[in-house]
Amino acid sequence: MNDSITQTRRIKRITESVISLPTLPTVVSKMLELVDNPKTSAASLARLISTDQTLTARILKLANSAYYGFPREIYTVDTAIVVLGFNTVKDMGLSLTVLDVFKGGAGADSFDVSKLWEHSIGCGIGAKMLARRFRSPLVGEAFVAGLLHDIGKVILNHYLAGEFHEIIGMVRNDGRTLDEAEEVVLGTSHAEIGGWLADKWRLPKIIAESIRYHHAPWEAQTAPLLVAVVAISNYLCHCAGIGNSGRKNPVSPDDRVWDIFSGNNIEISADALEPLETDLLLEYDQAETLLSFIHED
Ligand SMILES: [Fe+2]
Ligand SMILES: [Fe+2]
Repeated sequence: MNDSITQTRRIKRITESVISLPTLPTVVSKMLELVDNPKTSAASLARLISTDQTLTARILKLANSAYYGFPREIYTVDTAIVVLGFNTVKDMGLSLTVLDVFKGGAGADSFDVSKLWEHSIGCGIGAKMLARRFRSPLVGEAFVAGLLHDIGKVILNHYLAGEFHEIIGMVRNDGRTLDEAEEVVLGTSHAEIGGWLADKWRLPKIIAESIRYHHAPWEAQTAPLLVAVVAISNYLCHCAGIGNSGRKNPVSPDDRVWDIFSGNNIEISADALEPLETDLLLEYDQAETLLSFIHED
């Protein structure tokens, strides 16, 4: 059997695995709609979270954690939103529900998926930090876009653990880059696989683009700036050693990524990356309580 037939079969298998994935839980898709809608009120967010008991309990646990040091016990989601802020609670809710969809399952032994979630949350935090700094109107979407950018790897780890194990092995032992190893083993990439999932879940277009094009933001049609922000945040997470995405060496941003920023009158270049890395580490340390949920049973 020749190589291209083998590859086509593999891609087909991956596609089928993706098609058989669970659908997006209602609470996540509703929350993504809230992200999409600038008129979302604190009351509608509280109402939505309250429909999910586990989520409510976790958000209250966070609100009452020592980190926030609120003097009285917080009993309701409405109060949590007042104390923690609307955006913190929304980002929390999204992270926790997305984590839940993919929790459990065996996965590849060679890969610590909790490190991938640390990388993903780090990328969400960094994307939001950058969007805020560039006064981008897409600050609200930046966290979700960063959080989900490598969702294709989560799928690989859960549904194609054998192949993922092989890919990680090639990166570790054979000096291949992750992209090369994916091409050899799968004939496609985690970005493309994540894109398929985004389509199946009908995620907002700009989130789907951030997943599909985070390694080639210039190919995005709707919001290349947001995708470029995710790409830079991804790079910063690699340089700062936040989590582990399965790569051995960070891939420096392509010139076309910097062109997207200059095309939007944003001054940023490779020289700015070092101080940004420090700022990201500081913000990431503050997200300790959010991160503690990754390791929760
Ligand atoms: Fe990636
Ligand atoms: Fe990544």
